[in-house]
Parts: sequence; C-alpha cells; structure tokens
Amino acid sequence: MAINNVKGTHDIIGKEADTYAYVENVMGQIASFFAFQPVRPPVLEYSELFVRGVGEGSDVVRKEMYTFLDKADRSVTLRPEFTAGIVRLIVQNKLIPVNELPLKFYYCGPVFRYERPQLGRYRQFNQFGVECIGHGSAYADVEVIALAYTMLQSLGLENVTIKINTLGDEESRNNYRAALKDFFKDKVANMCGDCQNRYEINPLRILDCKVPEDQEIVKNAPKMSKYISEASQKRFQDVLAALEEMEIPYEVDDTLVRGLDYYSETVFEFHYVSKKGNNYGAIGAGGHYDKLVHELGGPDVPGVGFSFGVERLVSVLSDDELLPDLSMSLAAYVMPIGIDSYKYALNVADELRLLGYPVDICFDDVKLGNMFKRAEKKGARLALIVGEEEIKNNTVIVKNMESKEQITVSFEELGSKCEEILAGKEEK
Ligand code: HAM
Repeated sequence: MAINNVKGTHDIIGKEADTYAYVENVMGQIASFFAFQPVRPPVLEYSELFVRGVGEGSDVVRKEMYTFLDKADRSVTLRPEFTAGIVRLIVQNKLIPVNELPLKFYYCGPVFRYERPQLGRYRQFNQFGVECIGHGSAYADVEVIALAYTMLQSLGLENVTIKINTLGDEESRNNYRAALKDFFKDKVANMCGDCQNRYEINPLRILDCKVPEDQEIVKNAPKMSKYISEASQKRFQDVLAALEEMEIPYEVDDTLVRGLDYYSETVFEFHYVSKKGNNYGAIGAGGHYDKLVHELGGPDVPGVGFSFGVERLVSVLSDDELLPDLSMSLAAYVMPIGIDSYKYALNVADELRLLGYPVDICFDDVKLGNMFKRAEKKGARLALIVGEEEIKNNTVIVKNMESKEQITVSFEELGSKCEEILAGKEEK
C-alpha cells in the first residue's frame, strides 16, 4: 500500500516550488536593502527554549508543539516559530557584546504546529521573518513595520490591512493582568477548561478563547487600553505618528493581544482578503519584545520582529494573479538517436548549459517524430539531434523549432551558432 504525507503537511512541486522561491527571494532582497543579514538556525531545539521563550501559557506551547525525547532522553521540539531560536543563537554565540547594536537578521524555513488543518492552516508551514535586536525605541518598531509593508508592496499586495495595538510595558501588563484576574474571578468556573488554565498561567490568553459562550463573557472584560502606562501610550503615539509620516496605513485594534507570551509594547498583524474573497487569516504578524533576550540568558535588551506565513502569501498572490510567469523556457532539447549517442548528448547539453541556457535531454529510446513532439510540448526553441554520423564527424544537427530551418554545425561552433539563433541573429 502506498504511503501518504503526514496530515497537515503538503508537497510543493515544480512551478509551485518556483513561486515559493520567488516570494522568498523578493523578501530576502528587500531585507538586505534594510541591512538585515540572513541566519539559518536549526529546526530542532531543546523544548525548554520554547517553554521559556514563547511561554508555557501560550496555546503554541501547551497544545501545538511537536515535542519528543531523543535517544538520550532529552526533550527536543521541532521549532513552532523562529523568534526564540534566533534569540538563543544570538545569546549562545555571544553576538551582542562584540557587535554594534541592533543586530538585524532575516530567516526563512519550515515551522511545525500541531493545529487543526484548514484553509491556510498547516502543521508544517514556512515562515519568512526578521528580528531586530538591541534597539528599543519606537522607531525600531516602525522600521520593521515599514520593511514588512515594503515587502508586501513589492509582491504587489496593495490592499493590506495592518492591525496594530500596544500591550504596554511591564507595569501596564501587570495592572491589566490584575484587572482581568479580578474580572474573571467569579466567572472562570463556568468557562472552558483551557480558560481555567489560562486564568492561572496568563489571564491575557483568555481574550483569545474561541468558545462562543466564553467569547460572550470576554466581550465585557476590561479593555487593555485603559491600563497602558503613560510612557507606553506616548511610545505608541510615536509609532503611529511615524507610520503616518511614512504613509503606511494602519488600524488600531485594541483587542489585538497576539498568541505568544513574549510581546510587550507594539504588536501588529497583516491581513489581506483575496479578490476571490478567501480569507487565509493573518498573512504575517509580529511585535516588540522587552524581556525575551534576558529571559533566555542574554543581556537586558529589547527586540522587534515579524514573520510571514509563506503558504498564505503564495495563496493570496495566486488568488489575485499576482505571481509572475516564472516558467523558464527551454532553449534546447537534445535528441540522441539510440542509446550509444547518450554520452555525446550529455556533452552537447553541457556545452549550452555552461553558456547559461536551460537544456533538457531525451533519454527515452523513442522515434525521432516522438522526440520532436516532446520538444514542442516543452517549448524548446532548438532541437539538437545527435546520432552515429554526428558522433563520427564531431557535429550536431541544430533545428530551429520555429522556422524549421536545420543546419549541421561542428561541436566547436555549437555554442556560438546556437547563441546566434537564440538571439535571432542567424544569417539567412
Ligand atoms: P505567528 O503569528 O504565530 O507569529 O505566526 C506568524 C505567521 O505565520 C502568521 O501570521 C501566519 O501567516 C503564519 N502561520 C501561523 N500558523 C500557521 C499555520 N498553522 N499554517 C500556515 N501559516 C501559519 C510568530 O510566529 C512570531 N514568531 C512572529 C514574530 C517574529 N514576532 C516577533 N518576531
């Protein structure tokens, strides 16, 4: 019996894989323009990193991690997000004391979350993101949001909604947490089991509850905006004013709390509904974090970053026909006549490939007519025919698939002749 892929994972094949590479390249280039450098942390980390970093009260850590014991009985986890791993990498490699701050990194790769699969939601998906660590001002947040916005614009996504909120500083969150505890004190017993846990570990997470009866109760909960300290309010106003100055549109959403525990001050999400009306959820999200670096054993410096879900980006780009035609047309199709010509065919293909032309070879022992049909189907501009005679004379038959003209050229002049024909410069 055939074996299928694991539920919630998906195969990315051929042209679709090209679109992933395209999206990741566009974003990587723009990240470089903003002076971010690439990093590649491992997929596997010790589980404690995420428990401490992302927070034991978060759904990601409580329910969604792929955690297992390795052969030496150490608990390891397939990363459910990048940020904690990037901070670990910075702390472990002691990058902060010896480098000028902020450190600016971008990354891309698979992440794993045991969620219920649905439209735009996978158990293995790809994230592209950035982290800017070591500079705490409102303007570092703005630069990172501007970077994300530029990336989306460069991909052609014009009507992005940026939802933004502030979670305030530690003082604001402590006050708000206390207010929530007070509010839910006599209600939590009638709420779902998850909320009862959240009440103990991090009552802010109750605001994310998806159970309809609980949502009714949550509607009347105290609003975070009332508990934001003056300093944090001022910081948030600075963020908003700078976004306006840069003509980056936003919507303040004071219900936005984000599902990961490390955030403080500015948090944001990027939403986009495709013209077909498909809503894939947030296509990206991020925010500022004050304590994460310190929590993971580093100095007391803040950071800010975001991650995009590459699957969601590819889906909206494809829905809205914003993906460029990435198919690379084949310059030549090499057609060896008989198995004895295969070695020579490889040399012929190599000659053109080294000049930068995409070339394919027919390694099927089929009739010439059949090979021509395949060349046509592949969109090859030249057919290069080699058989016993050509090997003996060290020549190649070059047929222009469009004009149907055919010439025999020596192996030495193969490259220059093909270049001429492909550039439309051949002599008549
Ligand atoms: P997040 O909101 O958990 O944030 O994930 C970021 C993005 O990953 C989401 O906006 C979404 O596009 C995509 N995503 C999340 N879950 C799934 C899924 N199951 N299937 C497909 N796509 C998904 C973070 O991961 C933070 N580390 C972002 C960050 C970076 N904050 C600061 N720096």
